[in-house]
Amino acid sequence: MKIAIRYYTRSGNTKKLADAIGKELKIEAQDTSHKLEEDVDILFLGSSVYAYGVDDDIKKFINDIDVKVGIVINFSTAALINSTYKQVKKLLDKKNIPLAKEEFYCRGSFGPVHKGRPNEDDLNNAQKFAKEILKKYKK
Ligand SMILES: Cc1cc2nc3c(=O)[nH]c(=O)nc-3n(C[C@H](O)[C@H](O)[C@H](O)COP(=O)(O)O)c2cc1C
Repeated sequence: MKIAIRYYTRSGNTKKLADAIGKELKIEAQDTSHKLEEDVDILFLGSSVYAYGVDDDIKKFINDIDVKVGIVINFSTAALINSTYKQVKKLLDKKNIPLAKEEFYCRGSFGPVHKGRPNEDDLNNAQKFAKEILKKYKK
């Protein structure tokens, strides 16, 4: 089974989740400048919001997907909103790429707000989440 992890980050918060998931699944998490080069069964895709929207890099990454993706698992950090799920779903729907209903999100620090997040607990929870996903979607 082929699994890939991609993320976009500006201040490192979403990368922390990506690396925790990567550690659990023993896969290197790569940023969204790394296009998917081959078909994948599961794509863990990490994003965040900047002034209420996901970054153009995420839009471009999804738009440029030209391999078969079995299912996408959304994970995200944000300071105010809960998650990027709805925004990512809209982008994936346009490409007919399925998005799992399960997702992982937690607070991400933004200046003095939510300092230290994601914290150790968040990262442990992200790892547990990845393990559950693998159990559920493993072929
Ligand atoms: C320019 C900018 C705009 C932001 N706008 C929002 C926002 O509209 N809503 C929100 O929940 N968080 C907002 N945030 C907070 C980020 O979503 C949060 O810090 C996130 O964890 C950043 O992830 P990253 O370090 O992976 O880039 C903003 C952060 C920045 C830098």
